[in-house]
Amino acid sequence: MSEQVSHKVIFTPSGKRGHFPPGTTVLDAARALGVDLDSVCGGRGICGRCQCEASAGEFAKHGIVSAATNLSPVEATEARFAEKRGLAPARRLGCQARIFGNLVIDVPAGSQMHRQVVRKRAEAHPIRIDPVVRLHYVEVAEPDMHDPSSDLRRLQNALRDQWDIDAPPIDHALLPALQKTLRAGNWRVTAAVRHGREIVGLWPGLRDRLQGLAVDIGSTTLAAHLCDLATGEVLASSGMMNPQIRFGEDLMSRVSYVMMNPGGEAELTRVLREGLDTLAGEVAGEAGLVPADIIEVTIVGNPVMHHLFLGLDPTELGGAPFALTIDGAHEARAADLGLHFSPGARIYLLPCIAGHVGADAAGMVLSEGPYLHDEIRLLVDVGTNAEIVLGNRQRLLACSSPTGPAFEGAQISCGQRAAPGAIERIRINRDTLEPRYKVIGNDLWSDDPRFDPATPVTGICGSGIIEVIAEMFLAGIISATGVMDGALAARSPRIEAVGRTFAYVVREGEPRLLVYQTDVRAIQLAKAALYAGAKLLMQRYGVEKLDRITLAGAFGTHIDPVHAMVLGLIPDCAPDKVASAGNAAGTGARIALLNAAARLEIEAQVRKIEKIETAIEPDFQAHFVAAMAFPHGSDAFPELGKLVDLPARNASGGSASRRGRRRG
Ligand code: FES
Repeated sequence: MSEQVSHKVIFTPSGKRGHFPPGTTVLDAARALGVDLDSVCGGRGICGRCQCEASAGEFAKHGIVSAATNLSPVEATEARFAEKRGLAPARRLGCQARIFGNLVIDVPAGSQMHRQVVRKRAEAHPIRIDPVVRLHYVEVAEPDMHDPSSDLRRLQNALRDQWDIDAPPIDHALLPALQKTLRAGNWRVTAAVRHGREIVGLWPGLRDRLQGLAVDIGSTTLAAHLCDLATGEVLASSGMMNPQIRFGEDLMSRVSYVMMNPGGEAELTRVLREGLDTLAGEVAGEAGLVPADIIEVTIVGNPVMHHLFLGLDPTELGGAPFALTIDGAHEARAADLGLHFSPGARIYLLPCIAGHVGADAAGMVLSEGPYLHDEIRLLVDVGTNAEIVLGNRQRLLACSSPTGPAFEGAQISCGQRAAPGAIERIRINRDTLEPRYKVIGNDLWSDDPRFDPATPVTGICGSGIIEVIAEMFLAGIISATGVMDGALAARSPRIEAVGRTFAYVVREGEPRLLVYQTDVRAIQLAKAALYAGAKLLMQRYGVEKLDRITLAGAFGTHIDPVHAMVLGLIPDCAPDKVASAGNAAGTGARIALLNAAARLEIEAQVRKIEKIETAIEPDFQAHFVAAMAFPHGSDAFPELGKLVDLPARNASGGSASRRGRRRG
């Protein structure tokens, strides 16, 4: 018997290798070795997802010489693909190229089914592309009088024979168009199969791209990212005001609306879903698509938004014991919720953690992955309710803290939402007490000679409020207990008597912007609530020190970490370990959209998270009272002193007199 000839093939970057008889296609070799090489058309040479490249040269390590000529020459199918769709030089279709010699074959990132999406921050959770919905091109047998079976049966048989998918049921919404689709495609169709077990989309001919939508339902804004489910690429992003705002600015006023107007939740649900439909139309349009192209949607939101989106009455979330209707992850058909996506599209909502810690916090946990690390991490999403998560690989704890709307500009006399015209950065000269500031929409500081004095200034947004209070403390205008030093009025026109207290004049002119003693108090209450929540979790975990702090959410993104620590908004941490994560909740929704395993991962983590209810914790009150003062963290982290001009501390821990300090 003659010895069987075989060729050695090594795939890069995986390093997987094996021996194959001459004539084996690269795709078959890759499949045999479990190499990650994509395919939608099942090897018919029409989708182009299996592209690869033969490396040339001597590979001493593998003991072979590899050459492009060790692959079969380009034949008709491949030439046709190259002509119609284009194929870069040296690229081959893995399903067409056959092995006739030893080879090192590179699988470029674009051809990997489970490619990694690179995230900018190395400490964040990596995204591996492995969506729950995949496309499968099939050739379906035509109806035959001698072998009567339904069109669906023959489609299922084709999926079984060509893709090993056994008898998947079909979404009911696809049935009316099934026969037309099969005939329009001349018995060649592409099926979208969800979780490898249900047909949720069907198109005539070849379709090689699928889109999904990741949505963050905030009480103020809705944000949506349209993603390519094969590449992970964000095709378009857009946001809009939450249309529920007309029923109440904040969460609790919307819950009260429902309480006072029986059936009011239906109205809130309707406008929210309509808003999402509109937003989906916008993002799809931006990418040159239509909402019917969206086959899968993931959603995060706080518990009230989560419930209202699902059409659930949020009344129970308005008071203790804050019972959720459901807390686990939830799936629904988009059409059943009245949303106009692809007819078989599904919605996946991430799990809620507790009555005040929602699917948005779960999204943040998934995005930041504290459970993947040994270091102790604190994640904070600052809003009217701060959602706080602390822990590491061993243990995760979560709570929410009632910070109130002060950080969002409400309750502050000159506060406003972050919008053009709002002061977002401010510095106060330690000697003259003169401020300089930066306004959203203008890159220049107000003391820059190029700054146009006619620039409209309308108020101070959350990040500006944090900075102005911290700077007032650093400049000695307010004491560690938060009292304004009226004696300074004799030296600076910026300090103004208002009744029996004082105010700091940030801006003269129209509008005149002042920070009053009551504003300082409102910020003290808000920051003390946040700090106390974090401290409570640290106490429960049994740690004194944090290794890393991540600030998330629209507000968290813009806070200057150093000023946040000066103010005592967050516990002390090395300044270079405090970072903002942007919309971490939205990123979590995107990860869940692109990776099926991530859904199981966050569901399992959320079940393990220890929920701490601040409202019934006696220690919370103690931490809250202790946190009212303004600390500055320089004792624990002297680096902080190098970044801002910190006041010296007197014996009682308060700030010392301004005299003798460095100039600001
Ligand atoms: Fe579709 Fe090769 S698998 S072109």
